[in-house]
Amino acid sequence: MYKCKFVLILFFITFPFFSYSNESTTGIIKERMEKFQESKNLMRAINKNLSDSNFNVITQSAEMLNKWASEMHEFFPKGSEASSSNKSQASDDIWSDPEGFKKAIKTFENASAKLIKISKNKNVDDIASSFREVAASCKGCHQKFRN
Ligand code: HEC
Repeated sequence: MYKCKFVLILFFITFPFFSYSNESTTGIIKERMEKFQESKNLMRAINKNLSDSNFNVITQSAEMLNKWASEMHEFFPKGSEASSSNKSQASDDIWSDPEGFKKAIKTFENASAKLIKISKNKNVDDIASSFREVAASCKGCHQKFRN
């Protein structure tokens, strides 16, 4: 048993790039798609909880979005763009305009950070307007960087 584990660990030390082959590219694409699906669900949850004045859920959802914003960049390694062999909709522009992509992520990060802050004041109108800013940051990025 021990020996078996050892061999496995040795394998990953010896072939660290093994996991970066095609299969892993599919892996990261799948992972980010799941993250984006989660974003969609979080936005729905915020919308619903706004009409219920359930502010804690809004704060928590905004925190999760903000965390995702801070990690998003790592989910777009070179070579993971849309191609005929995957289901990705990631535009080539992500890699040809890295500054623009970074900026789009930053806009989302700032908008979600603002929503965290504003949700604590429990003013429905302010939260609704901040929520719309977050939604606009999703859309803004999609228009430029999603096929
Ligand atoms: C900085 C850019 C950027 C931001 C901000 C962004 N997205 Fe996306 N989104 C993308 C890209 C690029 C894809 C395509 C990913 C892929 O298919 O590989 C995508 C894909 C998606 C998908 C489809 C996932 C699937 O299963 O194919 C959904 C849903 C989505 N985003 C929702 C959102 C929501 C909701 C927000 C805001 C809360 C958001 N996105 C913010 C860039 C962004």
